[in-house]
Amino acid sequence: MAWETIGEESELTIGDMKQYVIDGEPIAVYRLERGWFATADTCTHQDCSLTEGDVDGQEIVCPCHGGAFAIETGRATRMPCVIRLETYPIRIRDGHIEIEWT
Ligand code: FES
Repeated sequence: MAWETIGEESELTIGDMKQYVIDGEPIAVYRLERGWFATADTCTHQDCSLTEGDVDGQEIVCPCHGGAFAIETGRATRMPCVIRLETYPIRIRDGHIEIEWT
C-alpha cells in the first residue's frame, strides 16, 4: 500500500465531492464537515457514477435508483443497494489529497 497524490485540497470546499481516477478506477472524494472521505465512485447496484448523485448528510445517494451508502463506512443504507461500497484511507498532506492505494 502506498499513498498516491490525486489532487489538491483547494479543489473541494466543505460539502463538495469530486471524481478522481486512479489506475483507471473512478474514486469519489468527499469533503464533509467531519473530514475527508473516499469511496469507489461506481454504485454496486448497476454501475452508476455516485459523484453524479447527491450527498445527504453522511450518505451518498445514487442518481439512478435512489439507493444510498454511508460515506464513512461504505455500508449500503437504502434499497436497492445491498452490497457494500469500497472505501479508501484518505489524508491531506501539504495541501495535496492523498489516497492509500495498492
Ligand atoms: S445504480 Fe445506484 S441505485 Fe441503482
